[in-house]
Amino acid sequence: MTEPLIDTFGRVHNNLRISVTDRCNLRCTYCMPEEVVFLDRSQLLTFEEIARFVAVAAPLGIDKVRLTGGEPLLRRDLPRLVRMLCAIPGIRDVGLTTNGILLADQAATLHDAGLRRLNVSLDALDPQRFRQLTRRDGLERVVAGILAAKRAGFEPVKVNAVSIRGVTEHEVVPLALFARQHGLEMRFIEYMPIGADQWERDKVFLAHAILEMLEREVAPLVPVDNYDPRAPAMEFRYTDGGGKVGIIASVSRPFCLRCNRVRLTAEGKLRNCLFALDEVDVKPLLRGGAATEEIAAVIRKNVMAKWEGHEINTARFIKPLRTMHAIGG
Ligand code: 5AD
Ligand code: SF4
Repeated sequence: MTEPLIDTFGRVHNNLRISVTDRCNLRCTYCMPEEVVFLDRSQLLTFEEIARFVAVAAPLGIDKVRLTGGEPLLRRDLPRLVRMLCAIPGIRDVGLTTNGILLADQAATLHDAGLRRLNVSLDALDPQRFRQLTRRDGLERVVAGILAAKRAGFEPVKVNAVSIRGVTEHEVVPLALFARQHGLEMRFIEYMPIGADQWERDKVFLAHAILEMLEREVAPLVPVDNYDPRAPAMEFRYTDGGGKVGIIASVSRPFCLRCNRVRLTAEGKLRNCLFALDEVDVKPLLRGGAATEEIAAVIRKNVMAKWEGHEINTARFIKPLRTMHAIGG
């Protein structure tokens, strides 16, 4: 291996999140506007271009990739991409974050293709609340998708819920109980300013409040023993053996100084932060047959330019023009 991807803050980057489409079959309010113009198919990186990028990044130390969107299962024949990525030397594991709508049909095929890490987004178990948040129906399909993933052998299946005060606050306990009942790992994510909606600090249902609620209404929790300081989620386990819970405190306890991620958007823009204001276009390089060293140099330069972190908690914070669906979750 050549020099790892270390930035000016000493952060080693081994984690690549790849958006495979900006399209989605839901319209979550915290993620995208109600009306969206999606990219033309010809603008998307092909599977071959994505695999080439990963093959260049792997010798630089990228060993973990996660496919995101938009909704990645809308991309035709995604298991083929999973197989291509799993076959790249140095790639240790390939994960997927999905909204679960199409998961029941695809879970087994994805597992067969080599996918092991699976996160399903589900913010509410109340059908009306689900519809309010996603602007679509589909709660039963998501639940069916989660259960199908479990049957297909994914272990763990993680369920992500965005916590918004007054909106999903009352879903926290039902979701936690649902997860305990089905052997899932529930993860609560603090609401971030990355959608088209009006984010306010007061709307963030904070990590400590989530924890208090779980301890009061579900069961006592303790931090897990094999706590990974580089993982964004703070992990806890129920002392009664009811499984694990993760809390992603992106606002109240940012993990920027431990961040190990870079992102590739569906149309081939490389971003060193979810909140980055700049990005570099690698599609012309991938499409134009650029040499490996040339692409590697662009990746290195982008990592070196990474800032200290998002400034959500300061007056300096500037919301990126792209909303979440166009960056990749
Ligand atoms: N704040 C927190 N999490 C978000 N996600 C999307 N938008 C936001 C936001 N504004 C989450 C989704 C999904 C993952 C891809 O990103 O719920 O779990
Ligand atoms: Fe789609 Fe996920 Fe955005 Fe919801 S959060 S609109 S499911 S991409």
